[in-house]
Amino acid sequence: MKEYLEKLPQEIKYLIVLARRVSKETKMPAYLVGGFPRDLILGAKDWDLDITVEGNGIKFAENLAKRLNSGLIRHERFGTATLILGHRLKVDIATTRKEIYPFNASLPVVSPGSLRGDLLRRDFTINAMAVSISKGADQALIDIFGGKEDLAAGKIRVLHDLSFKDDPTRILRAIRFQQRYNFKIEPKTFRFLKEAIKLDLLNKVNPHRLRDELVLMFKEENPLKQLKQLCVLGGLSFISNKLQPGKPTYDLFKSVDKEILWFRQNFPSHRQFDAWLVYFAALLRPLTLVQGNKISQRLGLSKEEEKKIVSCCKINQRFIRRLKNKQAKPEQIFALLKPLSYEAIILLRSISQDSTFKKHIADFLMIYKGMRLCISGDDLHSLGILPGPRYQKILNKVLVARLNGRVKNRQEELALVRKIVK
Ligand code: CTP
Repeated sequence: MKEYLEKLPQEIKYLIVLARRVSKETKMPAYLVGGFPRDLILGAKDWDLDITVEGNGIKFAENLAKRLNSGLIRHERFGTATLILGHRLKVDIATTRKEIYPFNASLPVVSPGSLRGDLLRRDFTINAMAVSISKGADQALIDIFGGKEDLAAGKIRVLHDLSFKDDPTRILRAIRFQQRYNFKIEPKTFRFLKEAIKLDLLNKVNPHRLRDELVLMFKEENPLKQLKQLCVLGGLSFISNKLQPGKPTYDLFKSVDKEILWFRQNFPSHRQFDAWLVYFAALLRPLTLVQGNKISQRLGLSKEEEKKIVSCCKINQRFIRRLKNKQAKPEQIFALLKPLSYEAIILLRSISQDSTFKKHIADFLMIYKGMRLCISGDDLHSLGILPGPRYQKILNKVLVARLNGRVKNRQEELALVRKIVK
């Protein structure tokens, strides 16, 4: 694998060199595993490092973190740790382990194991390769299950018959990798996958794990492709029986693609938003507010995410009609859109192709949203107005005038205040 490793960006090479030193000093053999060897061979550009160590992963991680002067999150229960490197790069370090699943869809019982056992517990052959980074190990590819051959042939293949039963989230992972790389799920694996779907095993998985997989799915480059394949293979009853996406949802996803692009091109300096959440909210669009809310809670979305989903679910026909109204005044548009998150605004723009509607939202983002008054409470105080709830009312009136273009500068704002209090 030397020729592949040499092509890596400098900072990754440096990390691997440091890990090799730690491995030598601690006498713990270390390997790059999981998605890393796969993406290394495929020439992908997204480098998360997954290191597994024969020995004690946490001790190894502590040693590496010290050399890098980086933070560390320990997961003692699993013998794993994550280095916090402050940029996009993520380094996960684990101890080689084997896993036993006491029953279908349960969490595994984990115990220390050999590298072979560690690779055998994994989902697909393409994710079960390792590259030794220990000194003298020659950085050769350790490929016990034919992962490299499956990569070349574009095949998703499980390592054993119970893979999907042990961990049904692998159904979603199989679809994700299949769509991401345009691979095929090989026939036997496909049979196991269909069997697991038929047994409704996704419904037995801890909902928080489902949430993580759905987020990953909607973070992929083409969420629509992912969704369509998920529907073809098994449907979405594990999220809700009421979800049966068809053309309207697919069209909405296409529209979301365009609006996300539009937003990123026009507002590159705006706060980052969660694109996956816009797709997820688009998926939930046919549901009622109560249903949408229930799903967010069951999947264990964070409070912030839940709030955003709810505000997306609240966008009803009346709201849309008001934004389509050609006579809508700036202050009305401002009042409608101000409480919405960027995610909800992007979803909103995706819902209708009406040009007035789109323009009102664009105006809000481009003109009204950033509008600030030149005056503040201090100015009202200087004018002899006694502090109290009245301040807010006065400032709101001035803001409306500002949005309408009736006042344009500090002098005109102050003049308006004088007029109001008179
Ligand atoms: N893995 C597994 N079963 C799962 C999740 C993960 O066997 N349900 C194993 C796979 O070997 C996988 C590795 O853990 O490669 C790391 O998982 P993760 O970081 O989730 O995925 P990646 O394969 O790195 O994929 P991605 O490119 O999407 O990050």
